[in-house]
Amino acid sequence: MSVLIKGGRIVTAADSTVGDVYIEGERVSRIGTSLEDDADVVIDATGKLVLPGAIDPHTHLDMPFGGTVTIDDFTSGQTAAAFGGTTCHVDFCIQARGQSFTDALAAWHEKREGRAIIDNGFHIAVTDLDEGGSLEELATLPEQGVTSYKLFMAYKGALMVDDETLFRTMEVAARTGALVMVHAENGDAIDVLVREALAAGNSAPVYHALTRPPELEGEATNRAIQLARVAGAPLYVVHVSCKEAVHPIAKARRAGWDVWGETCTQYFFIDQSYLERPDFEGAKYVYTPPPRPRENQQVLWDAVRTDVLSAISTDHCAFLWDGQKTMGKDDFSKIPNGGPGLENRLHMIHEFGVRVGRISLNRMVELLATNPAKLFGLYPRKGTIAPGSDADIVIFDPSRRKTITAAGQHSKSDYNLFEGVEVTGDVDTTLIRGTVVVDGGELKVDPGFGQFVRRARFGEELQ
Ligand code: URP
Ligand code: ZN
Ligand code: ZN
Ligand code: ZN
Repeated sequence: MSVLIKGGRIVTAADSTVGDVYIEGERVSRIGTSLEDDADVVIDATGKLVLPGAIDPHTHLDMPFGGTVTIDDFTSGQTAAAFGGTTCHVDFCIQARGQSFTDALAAWHEKREGRAIIDNGFHIAVTDLDEGGSLEELATLPEQGVTSYKLFMAYKGALMVDDETLFRTMEVAARTGALVMVHAENGDAIDVLVREALAAGNSAPVYHALTRPPELEGEATNRAIQLARVAGAPLYVVHVSCKEAVHPIAKARRAGWDVWGETCTQYFFIDQSYLERPDFEGAKYVYTPPPRPRENQQVLWDAVRTDVLSAISTDHCAFLWDGQKTMGKDDFSKIPNGGPGLENRLHMIHEFGVRVGRISLNRMVELLATNPAKLFGLYPRKGTIAPGSDADIVIFDPSRRKTITAAGQHSKSDYNLFEGVEVTGDVDTTLIRGTVVVDGGELKVDPGFGQFVRRARFGEELQ
């Protein structure tokens, strides 16, 4: 099977040229101008952007959390992804307390088996090195293509680890070539503030933000950076939301340390005031770190523009407002933390990053595809358009208008964080490994099409 994508503007992190992409089997074979028209399928991309499929390094599908389970499974979540131009993601496999890493991974493979629409890998979230997994077992995971270890420095009593577990995991990563990822917030201090707020009768959604002040994100970010430096491990800080966390990352990177950070789409658009929306609507915006005061949004745009932050993820962790978020109607600490986002990252960053002139098209590709691929052992198989790379390609119409709504989305959530936002630019066609997965508003593959990707170790290439 061969496919020719003709006459589009091919945009990578480095280049932007009008030309043709020739795909043989699952991979790109040639890029050029006036390539022969002898392919089995010819797609006219005149006037369109031809982009590497976006890669989301941070998602939570079918995950038990906050007393419930995230509403999107691998089929619904990955369908939403494909419609939004995301062709690959790395999801968090969470080790339950007392569970071995092998059992945790088997459970997560089971969730995607027969259900996957797009390709994905797994990070392992380490929660228990005492009764559950051992350091020796952790060290073997990169051989299975699981090359990143995630630790939660918050969610006390649930996913949170202490500094000993964090530091020991960093030492293993320094040996095995895994990348350490941290959710950086001071969970002990937050736990005190939450109990104090509830004791004072403060139970509304806005107290989610007021009990997780930005200083506690800054403190944990700096702590993780210093610990990783001592352990000799590379560090990736997830969902950076505020200047207090941006600053220590900027300082470490200026010093040449192996530290990277991501932010998520929602932090550019949603501020703390959304949590005060009446009739419990504020609960839709209860995710962690919380929406911050508005001045942080410019800090984040500057950080992604200047490479202080290197990736934009979604942290897709979708719940229903009606029935799941409402579990916390009388107690903000019982609102499951997370929001949907997999479908609209490219729409939002293209509109408010590129079209508004904050970042270039090349930088958008770098933040949404190339850097996630490089950091998480997927490059150059994924994250770019080049001969030999997987033909994971998005044909994007930069002039088609779209209004973002929950009614039109593919996530099973009953709301959208960006409800009613109008953008110019939408996905026409999504290809994964040379197969058309979405076209003309229709899903073209069956569950089971998506493949598990065994990722390379940090700093190594995946061919
Ligand atoms: O609120 C969030 N972000 N939920 C998902 C878990 C996490 O902390 O990333
Ligand atoms: Zn987190
Ligand atoms: Zn997350
Ligand atoms: Zn549809």
